[in-house]
Amino acid sequence: MNSRSLPGLYGLDSLNLPKHIAIIMDGNGRWAEKRLMNRIKGHEAGSGAVRTIVRACREIGISVLTLYAFSTENWQRPKIEISALMVLLNKFLESEKNEMMENDIRLNAIGQVDKLPENVRKTLNRTMDLTGKNKGMLLNLALSYGGRTEIVDMVKIISQKVKDSKIDPDLITDEFVADHLYTAGMPYPDLLIRTSGEMRISNFLLWQIAYSEIFITDTLWPDFGKEELIKIIYDFQNRERRFGNVG
Ligand code: IPE
Ligand code: IPE
Ligand code: MG
Repeated sequence: MNSRSLPGLYGLDSLNLPKHIAIIMDGNGRWAEKRLMNRIKGHEAGSGAVRTIVRACREIGISVLTLYAFSTENWQRPKIEISALMVLLNKFLESEKNEMMENDIRLNAIGQVDKLPENVRKTLNRTMDLTGKNKGMLLNLALSYGGRTEIVDMVKIISQKVKDSKIDPDLITDEFVADHLYTAGMPYPDLLIRTSGEMRISNFLLWQIAYSEIFITDTLWPDFGKEELIKIIYDFQNRERRFGNVG
């Protein structure tokens, strides 16, 4: 903590909070397998952790929370697991909409949302409309999301603009690219957390995490809670972010 700032909630420095936290919520399957249960039970337990972490981030004062809920690659999983995940997602959106309204949370989705089953798409759109004016926190769900696809989509949009002579290629900057990603208008993640110990990115926010601080915990997602989140933010606040400069 730097000497000018006062300790805020839970001893965190309120002037140095990550604006945007992104989380790769991994380990539901292993959580269930350890208990000799079906993987789907792990996903059910995982949605409880989502609820806890959304609430905690809102309370702490995080502006944007991006949760990796389903990747483009996850469509390769057994059909029965995919449908269970879609049922859970639908349930989550239905059951959380009142709490999102009470806590001023706006819901957004990034990814190829058109690939989701129609009922989920409808619930998602309804909840995004309902919460559209909320300002307290942006909850960004990565659904059928892939970082490479996001970049391909950006390249297509920008090349079409060049082709139509709407822009001059010399005007393509970092900021211009960022404005054509699914996360346009959002700050880049300051903090990237992955649960369950895997040391990989798995196609998440490839462009946006260029300078994110990374924290990997062995905790399996269903066991991840507020106390550990606070510890990680505390660790983040004690890191020196140099962005290529000298300290
Ligand atoms: C994360 O848990 C949830 C999704 C990817 C949908 P996993 O289902 O990947 O759990 P593990 O990695 O098999 O333990
Ligand atoms: C990453 O987890 C995707 C999500 C958390 C939604 P995976 O379990 O799919 O990633 P890999 O297969 O271990 O790389
Ligand atoms: Mg996994």
